[in-house]
Amino acid sequence: MNDVNKIDPFGAAVSDYFFSRFRHRKKIIVNSSISGIEKIAVSYLFRSYKKMPELEKKALGLCYGKILDVGACSGSHALELQKKNCDVTALEISPLCCEIMSKRGVNKLVCSDIFEYKNAGYDTVLLLMNGIGIAGTIEGLRTLLTHLRNLLSSEGQIIFDSSDIEYAYFEEDGSKWIDLNNDYYGQVNYTMQYKNVKGPKFNWLFIDRIKMSEIASETGFNFSVLAEGDHYDYLGVLKPII
Ligand SMILES: C[S@@+](CC[C@H](N)C(=O)[O-])C[C@H]1O[C@@H](n2cnc3c(N)ncnc32)[C@H](O)[C@@H]1O
Repeated sequence: MNDVNKIDPFGAAVSDYFFSRFRHRKKIIVNSSISGIEKIAVSYLFRSYKKMPELEKKALGLCYGKILDVGACSGSHALELQKKNCDVTALEISPLCCEIMSKRGVNKLVCSDIFEYKNAGYDTVLLLMNGIGIAGTIEGLRTLLTHLRNLLSSEGQIIFDSSDIEYAYFEEDGSKWIDLNNDYYGQVNYTMQYKNVKGPKFNWLFIDRIKMSEIASETGFNFSVLAEGDHYDYLGVLKPII
């Protein structure tokens, strides 16, 4: 195992699942500052169109032109778009995920950190499963949106899903406990582990509608909500203000 793969639980999980003879039920262990230990079934990262949440189905239907699927993981969304003859490029930081995407038949693949990627001219940038969380912090979101704006065509759009995780701060009596001295409440600390592969601590951002609206206008976008999910989540679109 090379050094990058040793700290890449997503890659290890995706690779293990793909090469297993039988579809297993193993899980990635996620430890977050907001909800402690949770688990993600690796099979979920290989979901078919039928098993995708309604917000994701809607997002795929709204993609047009040259599409960039950011944080594409095992390529589930990119493969669906390819089936519809869309021009889609899957971008992913994990070399192991990229290897599996290639084996699964993803045609256009870039193994890169999105913050380093410079190819412009995309009509749709897609960030699903709260992929916009890559931003990590509010400042990171400003940086990410400013960067993505440069990758978009003038008619371009960013389609993403996220959640307002304010609900996680509600007490049993209905009151809310958010320490205003702390960072933005949607900024969560994570570590992930799959088998013996443990990743470093990282920040992941959940962004509520009001804060997104504020950061969008600061960075030159119009923001609107396209659809509401059933657990404080939503599908949003950002279009550059020309
Ligand atoms: C929550 S998963 C989402 C996976 C996929 N979009 C889906 O819906 O199944 C986030 C993915 O983003 C990738 N990722 C994290 N940081 C990244 C970065 N800076 N640039 C590109 N990809 C990144 C991770 O390796 C992981 O596969």
